[in-house]
Amino acid sequence: MASTEQAVEQSTLQELAKRHLWMHFTRMSAYDQAEVPVIVRGEGCYVWDEHGKRYLDGLSALFCVNIGHGRADIAQAGADQAKDLGFFTNWSYAHPPAIELAARIASLAPGDLNRVFFTSGGSEAVESAYKLARQYHKVTGKPNKTKLIAREIAYHGTSLGALSATGITGLRTPFEPLTPGAHHVPNTNTYRMQPGITPEYFAESIAEKIEFEGPDTVAAVILEPVQNAGGCFTPPEGYFQRVREICDEYDVLLISDEVICAWGRLGEWFGAIKYDYLPDMITTAKGLTSAYAPMGAVIASDRVAEPFMTGTNSFTHGFTFAGHPICSAVAMANLDAFEREGVLQNVRANEPRFRAMLESLRELPIVGDVRGAGYFHAIELVRDQDTKETFTEEEAETLLRGFLSGELYRRGLICRADDRGDPVIQLSPPLIAGPEQFEEIEDILRGVLSEAGERMHVLGA
Ligand SMILES: Cc1ncc(COP(=O)(O)O)c(C=O)c1O
Repeated sequence: MASTEQAVEQSTLQELAKRHLWMHFTRMSAYDQAEVPVIVRGEGCYVWDEHGKRYLDGLSALFCVNIGHGRADIAQAGADQAKDLGFFTNWSYAHPPAIELAARIASLAPGDLNRVFFTSGGSEAVESAYKLARQYHKVTGKPNKTKLIAREIAYHGTSLGALSATGITGLRTPFEPLTPGAHHVPNTNTYRMQPGITPEYFAESIAEKIEFEGPDTVAAVILEPVQNAGGCFTPPEGYFQRVREICDEYDVLLISDEVICAWGRLGEWFGAIKYDYLPDMITTAKGLTSAYAPMGAVIASDRVAEPFMTGTNSFTHGFTFAGHPICSAVAMANLDAFEREGVLQNVRANEPRFRAMLESLRELPIVGDVRGAGYFHAIELVRDQDTKETFTEEEAETLLRGFLSGELYRRGLICRADDRGDPVIQLSPPLIAGPEQFEEIEDILRGVLSEAGERMHVLGA
């Protein structure tokens, strides 16, 4: 039981949170009556709230605590580094942790992606890659190549450049006009493919868009290996190979946005390795440090970096904290743990069981589709399994915000109920999870989704 002192502290935390903390992407008024969920501790695949209640973290916080919570060794690496050199910048200077981490990332990245430009997170990585693509074409004599092609419903971050790549209308319109020059093509949603469309069309739509915009005006294409928003859209067979050919044909750079898909999420160091393609740049963040410290990076190919390495040229761009020595040391310790403990192997070995557990939920009439790869999966919820009829906007609101999000949390499972496309539940557990956690996830999901089906009068529920 909580002591009086703890109880006072907890209510003060609630009060202070409600008065002063501005939570991101959050309807703050939702907490006028309800409690703010305050997470105070984590260990492995679990976290605890301020009341001591335990939750299975089925989302790795936000697709990022890949190694799991509560790792003293990773925290210690940051503390040790702080004693030696708490901070120095990468603006014209280097320090051992950033140098060693850059070399290690280059050794793990595919092909000739050997040059690492650090950032403090994912949006900064996307922003940097977009700017690098523009400046690359300027220094190589094609100054009109400035446009970026991305996919509908994809999330690439929130800073104005990155937001222009983001293809989610509701996130874009409040901030328009956005950075000009970003254009969108269909994503690889094969579950809801229009009649007459084949999976080959998805790559061809990029060629069509380049032709339409004018090849001399297009700088880059940015794609996630598995698209998060919309619910874990995987690439059809041959998709990235064809996109690579198209990019080569039009001298357009291919950016693989691996803010989520790198660092074991799909069972490989990078999504580009899993799907066997070679991008010109990879953007990454999150799992690089398993989120024990904020850090991101653009990993550029030798070809993209080369023009910036000669004469008076430089990439005229930077962030004070990028390559921070403490974050770099934390990332090294995180990657050490990945290698020592066979984290990628764990994902590969357990992926079939994870998938089979989710597939078994198709027995529930509300489950329309199960898709994804590695430890990164989505369940699409439908009104009718046979016709794939989805919910109206109001129904989706009632289903996701009015019931599922709160009920899953109440029953001890943190996952994401998302309506940025059609309604989905997303799961992305720490990469150390195994059958015990899958059973727990199934137990909670089965109960909550059955009840959701009944509440929404889903056909057959
Ligand atoms: C694919 C992708 N790109 C970019 C971002 C932005 O990263 P951040 O929130 O670290 O700025 C995210 C965040 O989830 C993402 O999933």
